[in-house]
Amino acid sequence: MPDFDRIPRDRLPALLRQMPKAELHIHIEGSLEPELIFRLAERNGVALAYPSVQALREAYAFTDLQSFLDIYYAGASVLLKEADFFDMAWAYFEKAAADNVVHAELFFDPQTHTERGVPIEAVILGLHHACQRAHAEFGITSRLILCFLRHLSEDDAFRTLDAALPYREYFVGVGLDSSERDHPPEKFARVFARCRELGLHVVAHAGEEGPPAYIDSAIDVLKVERIDHGVRCVEDPGLVARLAALRMPLTVCPLSNVKLCVFSSLAAHNLPQLLDAGLVVTINSDDPAYFGGYLNDNFVQTFEALPVLGARHAYTLARNSFEASFVDAPMRADWQRRLDDVFVAAAV
Ligand code: HPA
Ligand code: ZN
Repeated sequence: MPDFDRIPRDRLPALLRQMPKAELHIHIEGSLEPELIFRLAERNGVALAYPSVQALREAYAFTDLQSFLDIYYAGASVLLKEADFFDMAWAYFEKAAADNVVHAELFFDPQTHTERGVPIEAVILGLHHACQRAHAEFGITSRLILCFLRHLSEDDAFRTLDAALPYREYFVGVGLDSSERDHPPEKFARVFARCRELGLHVVAHAGEEGPPAYIDSAIDVLKVERIDHGVRCVEDPGLVARLAALRMPLTVCPLSNVKLCVFSSLAAHNLPQLLDAGLVVTINSDDPAYFGGYLNDNFVQTFEALPVLGARHAYTLARNSFEASFVDAPMRADWQRRLDDVFVAAAV
């Protein structure tokens, strides 16, 4: 175990950047930067509602989850061909490599594309080829997680699953995203049961804007292995104790939470409280092109805003990201050794 007390505080930002880490909550469509949106719009002859990159960026002033989703789905409208999905994911992997991300589990939203007539094959193969190249060029391992849009029906989710099954070898799990309020996990009980029968991993967004009861039902009804966000669990002390006892990972996204007004500022974020409660918390970027930063921006800005967080927390967060990932034990152990090495070297 590294000696955290011997790591000087001024080393912390560099250590946060340098430490190996896994990213487990990134919507790949949320990594689409305005510059790439305009490039793809031109390439594909798609008309945009904004006259310039700057005008689009200025529209990124969100008041809640729905105000973000409206712009996020509009941005994704430029994605039509397999090459577009490849280019988007490749741009993400270049940022991830610079942030010392060694493993990434990418969410993608097929329904956002298939409803515009894009073949699901173009979505999945474009992303898959970027994952392959990221491994070859950067040594980054990755997995794809297919998300169902919860504002649509369960029947629609079943049709999406059926369309994706010929490409089953390319994704490891399913998730649940989009508008949380009034769309409880119970709505997707049958399709998640089917996914579990197929041997898919299951995760769900819960307790971002929705009540703590949605976290309980994601566990009880959907039988999820991770909760995405989950920050509203603190409203129910019994639930916090349950999450701790289960070692149920929470994929927390601090910059996202501030941009979508879940917290008023990073300084007001409950991450320290979640860590103190012994929860398996991880830090993630969610939709980095829209929320002001990639993974290291999330780490560095969160630690800057919350001085109670130190080297021990940094280590715990990185270690949790490996514990919560969907990889085999030898791979996880290898990353944990590399993480230990970085922290041992930082102690003076
Ligand atoms: N919450 C729900 N749905 C989403 C999000 C999010 O933060 N990002 C992209 N789809
Ligand atoms: Zn999310």
